[in-house]
Amino acid sequence: MTPRMPLFVRHAEPCQGCPLSQVQATTLYHGSLRLLPKVKTNRAATASRLRCIACGDTPDSAAQDFRCTHCGDLLEFIFPGSTYDPASLRALWLNRRTSVGQFSSGRSLLGKTPHRTLDQSGVWRYRELLPPISDEHVISMGEGNTPLYRLHRCARATGIENLYAKHQGMNPTASFKDTGMTVAASSAHQAGFRWVACASTGNTSASMAAYAARGHMRSLVLIPEGKISWGKLSQALDYGALTCQLRTDFDGCVRILSELVRQKPVCLLNSVNPYRIEGQKTAAIELLEQLGWESPDHIIVPGGNLGNSSAIGKALLEMHGLNLISRLPKLSIIQARGANPFYRCVREFGGTKLEPMTADTMATAIRIGNPASWKKALRVLQATGGEVEQVSEVEIAEAKAEIGADGIGCEPASAVTLAGLKKLRASGFVKPGETVVLILTGHLLKDPDFTIEFHRGDLFTGSAGESEAVRMKSLQRAPIVLDADLAAVIAALDAAEKNS
Ligand code: F0G
Repeated sequence: MTPRMPLFVRHAEPCQGCPLSQVQATTLYHGSLRLLPKVKTNRAATASRLRCIACGDTPDSAAQDFRCTHCGDLLEFIFPGSTYDPASLRALWLNRRTSVGQFSSGRSLLGKTPHRTLDQSGVWRYRELLPPISDEHVISMGEGNTPLYRLHRCARATGIENLYAKHQGMNPTASFKDTGMTVAASSAHQAGFRWVACASTGNTSASMAAYAARGHMRSLVLIPEGKISWGKLSQALDYGALTCQLRTDFDGCVRILSELVRQKPVCLLNSVNPYRIEGQKTAAIELLEQLGWESPDHIIVPGGNLGNSSAIGKALLEMHGLNLISRLPKLSIIQARGANPFYRCVREFGGTKLEPMTADTMATAIRIGNPASWKKALRVLQATGGEVEQVSEVEIAEAKAEIGADGIGCEPASAVTLAGLKKLRASGFVKPGETVVLILTGHLLKDPDFTIEFHRGDLFTGSAGESEAVRMKSLQRAPIVLDADLAAVIAALDAAEKNS
């Protein structure tokens, strides 16, 4: 029998320190003698529910494909009537961050996830804004807790002085997917699934395979053959996934998986699974915490299947609704020109429809022609007053090298944010005095081939224009092959110094 996804799961027993149970936190929970502030809330009012984004139906349980059984659209979690006191919530989360004691990755041998593991996760620390999952089912690897960097050189190049990068590539499997996967994999575990599955351009599969392994579940990965980077493929293999390379693209993999989950008892962990969105929300919460709850003017994200932009936008709206922030940042979404169905949806069709396309870009993570979450993304784009942009392959490669020159390594899909910022700045949408945060979604080492080919000058052989080639040349740092000779190395050093 297929396990059903739980909806109204509450903590099995009163959870010390958790505002859902209105118990004041003590030593037991946090491993410290400090008392935590009591968060004022109405327990009944904070229960999360699923709701269809189109027809508003609120089902008691989700179907295998996580689509509304009435109209087929996506589901989302809502937290009706949350009445958290913002100051107490902030203090509670800060306290958890500094909770002492040993971090235990994954679930403990006794089957319980230690509270310290939850507190030190940059996702579960914010559990008041997540659908509740019983502690013993939580699979955590200390995800979240990602750094916020200032980008000094990029700031000079763009004329945006206050430019930051929130590096989600610093998660356990080196992409932002882990923040959503910890919640979705835990919910699958709680529902009793033996198998979890996803279609992926690489990062989701790497993350899912790792969390499944940590939670003693099996994982099935469907990826487009020849169209994902080796780094990501190698992760899925090492973490023990059953990896099927299908002779199709990402959208073709999604079609097959959607059918498969209707026939087999596997839990779908793509971002149509609303638990994924809830976990990915926490990147924005953590970001605002890092900024001292002062909203930046702009947050810029890459757009592929559009789950991440939907999640970050949802977090912004929820934080605003809870008075955790007083002002909404504008959330802008950037796509590669060869994979731009959402850009066209907004710019050409005024948001009225999304026309699927055959996608093509070297930023393979976002090589997606039929994004599942486009309606959710559209809603948050409009609610926050953000923009869409599209960027070329050369613009992506340049931006990646520019971020790299700031000492921050990201994968091509992440670099669309900087490339997009340049365009938003040129159009006047982003102003020089404003504060901008780029969400870097994956680590440089996910796709080293791209980086090496770029620096060797092999990425665009013959296909780049003359001025583009000149601009790229100034960013390229090809390795030099020398004899094992001290004088030769010193000559190289002197030449580099002269040219710098
Ligand atoms: N950046 C990276 C590095 C990604 O891996 C993805 C998506 C995105 C951006 C876009 O995020 O889909 O939520 O709009 N990767 C998915 C995957 C599709 O299968 O790994 P999105």
